[in-house]
Amino acid sequence: MATIYKGSESDLFFLSDRLRAGELVAVPTETVYGLAANALNPDACARIFEAKGRPVYDPLIVHVTGQTAACAIAAMNVSAHALAAHFWPGPLTLILPKTPAIPDIVTSGRPTVAVRAPAHPLMRALLERCGLPLAAPSANPFGYVSPTTVAHVQEGLGDRIEHILDGGPCRIGVESTIIDVREMADPVILRPGGVAHEALEHVLGRRVRFHKPAEKSTPQARDPIGELAPGMLDRHYSPRTPLEVRPELFAPAELSEVPAGVARVCIARPRDAAKSSGIFWLSETGDLDEAARRLFSLMRELDAAGYARIEFEPAPATALGLAINDRLRRASAR
Ligand code: TXA
Ligand code: MG
Repeated sequence: MATIYKGSESDLFFLSDRLRAGELVAVPTETVYGLAANALNPDACARIFEAKGRPVYDPLIVHVTGQTAACAIAAMNVSAHALAAHFWPGPLTLILPKTPAIPDIVTSGRPTVAVRAPAHPLMRALLERCGLPLAAPSANPFGYVSPTTVAHVQEGLGDRIEHILDGGPCRIGVESTIIDVREMADPVILRPGGVAHEALEHVLGRRVRFHKPAEKSTPQARDPIGELAPGMLDRHYSPRTPLEVRPELFAPAELSEVPAGVARVCIARPRDAAKSSGIFWLSETGDLDEAARRLFSLMRELDAAGYARIEFEPAPATALGLAINDRLRRASAR
């Protein structure tokens, strides 16, 4: 089992020292827990891929304190600065050309780097103390549901890592939005997440499109610019129990009788949620922020509860509903 640190001054000092020595530390962010290593040290970053069982073609996000630190690793342009000024620290990751400071293993050989300044106060304190950019993917074994509590991290990686910094449950609960801003005239969302599409369009003052993954993608599939994008890995965030997204099963009649062995998950609490077993909801009122915050925890709980099948209602396609639906789609891909 990994040692859990609460984030005292001496904890932060010790953990930044471990990071400088090339070790891994699981860290809290406002989105999900990350598995961090010194992004400037290729050997340290190799340990991330090893601990997660992550294929080396899937690049890492680099976490920094803010725009000044970002400039050392990425070629920031006007759009990048505008987005960073508005959304950092926060759940937005920018794809930009990388500088030579970033080793190839971090970007899986791509000429671009993913960069974000996270908002969690303990993660910020750690970034400041160690004075390094930190590469950190979500702190889960590759392909499984992302962790939003220390218990989730301990469960998935506790026997493969030594240190976990405890920042409490994650406030947002789904990963950052990833936006490719290399072409200022044509910004593209690669993964919907904690920052809403609408908010990005508002700040950039232009339409922002979503990257469309290829119909039947393989891990090696390439997007038109010859670079693997996150959406290409279809099966992702998956519980072990089969999960389906079935809008037609959420009419009131269907909710009065859920077959044995099935968990049926609504976005909001259904009106006459009879105490019938097998019905769950992500939010009392259908609040999408609350639903996103609970999504991964509930997936894990239901996965552990021994149901034969988990059925989800899709979220309304707006704000964090898009991130929820994206994670559900990937969790249901077999
Ligand atoms: O909220 C988050 O983004 C969390 C926390 C820990 O910051 N991190 C996270 O990392 O979700 P990860 O590794 O689970 O997902 C990062 C995604 C991957 O799908 C990867 O393919 C994509 O970012 N990515 C990283 N670098 C990229 C690049 N240069 N171009 C395109 N996609 C990239
Ligand atoms: Mg992940």
